[in-house]
Order: sequence, then C-alpha cells, then structure tokens
Amino acid sequence: MNEYIPQADKEFILKELKRYETPISALIPSLFCIQKRHGWVPAEAVKELSLLSDLPESRINEVLNFYTMFNKKPVGQLHVQVCCNVSCAMNGGRELAKHICETYKVGFEQVSPCGTVTVSPVECLGACDKAPMMQVGQAYYEDLTNESALEVLEKLAFEKAKVSAHV
Ligand code: FES
Repeated sequence: MNEYIPQADKEFILKELKRYETPISALIPSLFCIQKRHGWVPAEAVKELSLLSDLPESRINEVLNFYTMFNKKPVGQLHVQVCCNVSCAMNGGRELAKHICETYKVGFEQVSPCGTVTVSPVECLGACDKAPMMQVGQAYYEDLTNESALEVLEKLAFEKAKVSAHV
C-alpha cells in the first residue's frame, strides 16, 4: 500500500494527537506536516489521517477546506500568494498577480507549464503597510513592483534549480 504519511510524519502526528484534549485540536499541525511532505494535502493522506486520529474524513475536510493556507491540489515549486485585499488592491496587487500569471503563462491556481509557479490571489496577509506584497513559501516580499516581484521569483527559481541539481 502506498503510504502518504510516512513513519516519521506519523510519529509527529501521534505526538500532536496526545498533546491535546481532543484530536480536532491536532488537525492543523497534522495537515501542515502532510503539506510540508507533499506540497499539498492529497485525499489519500486525509484517509490515513482519519485512521490515525479516529476522526471522520468529513471532519478533517471541513478544516482543510476552511483554511486557504492548505493546498487542495498540487502547486508549482514556488507557491506565489499575492495579496489582493484592500490595501494591496489599491496599490496594484491585483494587477501584480495578473502580471505574474501572464509572465509564467499560467492561470490562477494552476501549475505553470515549466512547473515553477502557482499563483494564488489571497486575502490580507497582515502586511498592509507594505502593499502590494506576496508570500512565497514562508517568506514575505513587500513594497513590490512588477519588476521587483519577477526578480524575486527568478532568484527563488534559480536557487531551487541549484538545490535540485545537487540532490
Ligand atoms: S491588504 Fe494586503 S497585506 Fe493586508
């Protein structure tokens, strides 16, 4: 059987499940763990998590679908979340998101043909005074222009390619 939650991750999840009074409280760290492994949360992993946590899949899916920080389908090597909320929208955030899509020839929430980029327009990421901004992985990039955003992405893609060439 293909395991979507490998042993090391299972151990982490079981520890989290013991840490809280109810298994529901352990869902967020467990889903993050799965996403860290796969880049997204596959339905098969939800099934395995359901067995581990003794929670129905529907309950896990409720949490999974509520939070936009969880990816429900595969994303490119760089998951580019461009804030399109009020401050960012007023400072060109929506145009920036479209510009990145056009540059990488990709629609929102799709993986670019080169596999590098997925662009997601997102709600406020809490850096409104630095609008427009984007989050790639865990890092924030702020006060962006079309040019500076593309520079950041090119640099990150280059670094990713360098790392995978050494693996
Ligand atoms: S509106 Fe974009 S970070 Fe708040």
